[in-house]
Amino acid sequence: MRLIMLGPPGAGKGTQAKIITERYGIPQISTGDILRQAIKDKTPLGEKAKRYMDAGDLVPDDVVIGIINERISQPDCAGGFILDGFPRTVAQAEALCESLGLMDAQIDFVVDLNVDAKFLLARLTGRRVCRNCGQMYHVEMNPPRSSGVCDKCGGELYQRDDDREETILRRFDVYSQQAQALKTFYEASGRYKVFDGAAPIAEVSVQILSALEGR
Ligand code: AP5
Ligand code: MG
Ligand code: ZN
Repeated sequence: MRLIMLGPPGAGKGTQAKIITERYGIPQISTGDILRQAIKDKTPLGEKAKRYMDAGDLVPDDVVIGIINERISQPDCAGGFILDGFPRTVAQAEALCESLGLMDAQIDFVVDLNVDAKFLLARLTGRRVCRNCGQMYHVEMNPPRSSGVCDKCGGELYQRDDDREETILRRFDVYSQQAQALKTFYEASGRYKVFDGAAPIAEVSVQILSALEGR
């Protein structure tokens, strides 16, 4: 199964993608995670991406399209994958469509998580992420059993550099500029569905998994 997760910053794309990954055994591909790893490793890709990410702006289309084309051609993607945070522009969506066409494949489902903006800022300022396995937590809404420590792997939790209020506000702006066009692009496919991402995490998962199963 090939899936796309859409939604604003903090909507729960990564949280839900991890749950779907466990259920279906297909990899989660997060362009944000790949770019953050490249920054951490100080690779040429990381050096290129850093200033855009620090500002809350989109990394240029050609860069992220290159990342995705490379990633989806890996053997572990043969049985499907979940794209988390890609595509973000119509140009990216068109490029994906073209690459999948060359592989004789297509997107099976597009999950759009809808969450009112008033919830998102608090979700993002309170988010903590495991340095080791990438699991997301929230200091109040989804806290780890032991403060600062990942429940799953014991790794250290940290706060993302772009989870500062001014950068978050810029990320919301950037999202709103692209969201409608992307929605229109996928709506026509008949494989697009909006979910209430403001519900509790487990409830959102139930909704998504039952939609995938009833497909
Ligand atoms: P990216 O890493 O993709 O960030 P984002 O889109 O801003 O989304 P987030 O990861 O912040 O939110 P999420 O929806 O995954 O929410 P999460 O599950 O963590 O991208 C970062 C940057 O990389 C971009 O700004 C850009 O510069 C660059 N980039 C990436 N992809 C790109 C692309 N394709 N093109 C160009 N540039 C690109 O949840 C958030 C918090 O809420 C957590 O604390 C979680 O515990 C909590 N939570 C989740 N669900 C719920 C719920 N239902 N109820 C209560 N709390 C919840
Ligand atoms: Mg994410
Ligand atoms: Zn962990």
